[in-house]
Amino acid sequence: MIAVVTGASSGLGEATARRLARGVGGTPVQLVLVARREQRLQALAEEIARVGDARASVLALDLTADDAPARVRELLEREHGGRLDLLVNNAGAAWKATFSEGGWENVRRTMELNFDAQVRLTEALLPLLRSSAPSSIVNISSTSGRVARAGSGAYSASKFALAGWSDALALEERPHGVHVGLVLPGFVSTEGFPQRQLVGHPFARLVVGKPEWVAEAVLDTGLRGKPERYTPRPYALAAALRVLAPPLVRRALGWRAKPRA
Ligand SMILES: NC(=O)c1ccc[n+]([C@@H]2O[C@H](COP(=O)([O-])OP(=O)(O)OC[C@H]3O[C@@H](n4cnc5c(N)ncnc54)[C@H](OP(=O)(O)O)[C@@H]3O)[C@@H](O)[C@H]2O)c1
Repeated sequence: MIAVVTGASSGLGEATARRLARGVGGTPVQLVLVARREQRLQALAEEIARVGDARASVLALDLTADDAPARVRELLEREHGGRLDLLVNNAGAAWKATFSEGGWENVRRTMELNFDAQVRLTEALLPLLRSSAPSSIVNISSTSGRVARAGSGAYSASKFALAGWSDALALEERPHGVHVGLVLPGFVSTEGFPQRQLVGHPFARLVVGKPEWVAEAVLDTGLRGKPERYTPRPYALAAALRVLAPPLVRRALGWRAKPRA
């Protein structure tokens, strides 16, 4: 099985690559690890080669660069004869700012990485996924792709967009044998999202998930046919409440009715 994992140099992508490297149903996995930090990817590829049957190639690039999708495709054609069984669109980042602070520029750069880069890479690799079918795409959105919070508007916009696009793509690609799954993590402590306030609190830390749980959710959606997975699972309640009781959710997130003059 050939799998591409973007954002494999840390956090959820690294955990997903490690999990895939342990093999899936006895089938050894050959990974393509993508991110900017080459040394981190190399170290992970060496670790993977040491501990099991899996192999990993490394591709250090910025996914927002114009030529990034073509470079991933070229590597797959060169090293794997154009085969691709699983694409995990995981790379992403958040730059916290209210709209009045960050403005359009913050929305633009967040969309460029968290949405446009995923769409561009998928466009380049879809012919390979179709010709390798049955195959899968897993897009890593976020619970913030269902429930928005103050200071995270740009991030939420990108993750809402990714979730909506994934739902449509899943319906479009089903006849072609390409399954599209969506993973919506809640708070998980990683390098890019350390969740310091939550992790430092004796009770709040209980709501923080582990990268390994997200990796298992990637397997559920990518290889076991699930359409979507929240992780930790109870975060699905927040998404359901957002649809069923918007005023309640707004109040819980700090909204106050404006006092009448
Ligand atoms: N942790 C959470 O609480 C949480 C919750 C919901 C959703 N998510 C989502 O999960 C995904 C992974 O996040 P994480 O928590 O694992 O964060 P992380 O530890 O910061 O990992 C982000 C990964 O994306 C890569 N990346 C960032 N910019 C890139 C670029 N321009 N080109 C190529 N690769 C790039 C990073 O590698 P380089 O720096 O080496 O390029 C890194 O490997 C993101 O999409 C994030 O939005 C995270």
